[in-house]
Amino acid sequence: MALEAETKTVVSKFEYTDDDVNKGVEEFLRQMHEGLAKDGTSMSQIPTYVTGVPNGTERGLYMAVDLGGTNFRVCSINLNGDSTFHLTFTKVAIPKELMVAKTAEELFAFLAKQIELFLRTHHREHFEKHIRRRMTISSPLGFVDEEVFRLGFTFSFPVQQSGINKGTLIRWTKGFDIPDAVGKDVCALLQQEVDKLHLPVKVAALVNDTVGTLMARSYTSPGKTGAVLGAIFGTGTNGAYVEKLDNIKKPMTGEYDSSTGDMVVNTEWGSFDNQLNILPNTPWDIALDKASVNPGFQMYEKRVSGMFLGEILRLVILDLLQNKAISLFKDDNSASNDWKSTTNIAAHSSIYTQWGIDTAIMSVAAADNTPELSTLRQELESTLHIYSPSLDDAQAFKAVAGAVARRAARLAAVAIAAIVLQTGHLATTTAEDPVDIGVDGSLVEHYPYFRDMIFEALAVVDGVGGVEGAKRIRIGIAKDGSGVGAALIALVAAGMEKPATHNEYFRELRNDVQSLNLAAVPEDNEVAYSSD
Ligand code: BGC
Repeated sequence: MALEAETKTVVSKFEYTDDDVNKGVEEFLRQMHEGLAKDGTSMSQIPTYVTGVPNGTERGLYMAVDLGGTNFRVCSINLNGDSTFHLTFTKVAIPKELMVAKTAEELFAFLAKQIELFLRTHHREHFEKHIRRRMTISSPLGFVDEEVFRLGFTFSFPVQQSGINKGTLIRWTKGFDIPDAVGKDVCALLQQEVDKLHLPVKVAALVNDTVGTLMARSYTSPGKTGAVLGAIFGTGTNGAYVEKLDNIKKPMTGEYDSSTGDMVVNTEWGSFDNQLNILPNTPWDIALDKASVNPGFQMYEKRVSGMFLGEILRLVILDLLQNKAISLFKDDNSASNDWKSTTNIAAHSSIYTQWGIDTAIMSVAAADNTPELSTLRQELESTLHIYSPSLDDAQAFKAVAGAVARRAARLAAVAIAAIVLQTGHLATTTAEDPVDIGVDGSLVEHYPYFRDMIFEALAVVDGVGGVEGAKRIRIGIAKDGSGVGAALIALVAAGMEKPATHNEYFRELRNDVQSLNLAAVPEDNEVAYSSD
């Protein structure tokens, strides 16, 4: 009983009421406007120099790489021009030591090496042709520009952009910490390492994953109009949306095409309300922040995204374990365990180490609705080495995990609602042609009912118009959005360079691809997408 009562108290501390949601939206809008007016604000509101969204007719073969969390992905994308595309990719985990390397060069050299491996495996013919040319022609660089792959670089950290392929790193997030890279142009860092390996690759576009997601959703989305927001709820969280150029009051240094009257803005909402004007702040949020590599930053992200939810849960569980008045994951006497064996936590259980609970177990907890919670209890054993947990233990774990995730989903709704209201599209759309939002990331994709919880909170926002109003907002998964999105932006950037010669370039590349023996490519590396 004591455990149940204590669990209820903890759960109540994670409640985020309808009133809180509305206060959150109001403050989010205020901080959005502040970020559009000047630099150095909590939410960066970064102009991306991308001034339009695609309509599905774009074509061509591009490369994209994606650095933003635990993995580095290299892909080539064939845009078919009919809202579908074909993607070939490789994925490699970023070695932990490179995430905190001494120099930027160490990390970027590793990335360039992966690009070389990808080209050798998947575009061997084009790669070898390029090497042959380098050896036979007299140009000092050994190749002509048109024969070079245009690459979209998805770099999912806050970057001050000064052009479509230029931007300096503002700060690292998500556990990365290489001070040497801060303030440097990340496209130049990658290009330098690519050039050292003499690869036929030009870093043509710098893309935040949210911008890629927005572009990808617009390319594949079924509606008449493009998506208005691309959002990530994964390891980290962030959103990019289409803003009226006139609303961007702060100075922009780079060149851009102003004919559409719009520009995509990368909000960097992970840092919404770093000053904690309205964000909830439990003792566990405080402890998590204090022990993080960036205390005081990414305060919204630390309450919403996958990297942090497991850690909040872990800190709560540790507190409950230390509470002498209750019994969690231990047998007081043999009768207290319905599995008739001794409950204990292995000394080496990752519950005792920072980041030791993966958010994935929270999804298992939410999905297990069996009376015995047997799946969750098995998962507690296999992943956390908590042996023979009782039903009461598992219920407490499930309740706390559910509360942490529910608060995250309701906070996610704050950002989504504020941006939908800011765009003003809700007034002109219908349930048949709703305001379209593309989302990606492990949390929104795998956590059961995450989107339903978001919708529940959207419906209570003043100005959305209740459940009926919320139906005019469509949230669709833009799977692998950052890859195809980066390719789309590389296409725009390439068009800005030399439109005429590119036709020849693509013709040549298409021939190369057609002559490739695709059967040699492992199946799981090939994905064809069409609109959903
Ligand atoms: C970064 C963003 C990124 C988001 C999602 C955040 O930590 O600051 O740039 O879009 O994670 O990957």
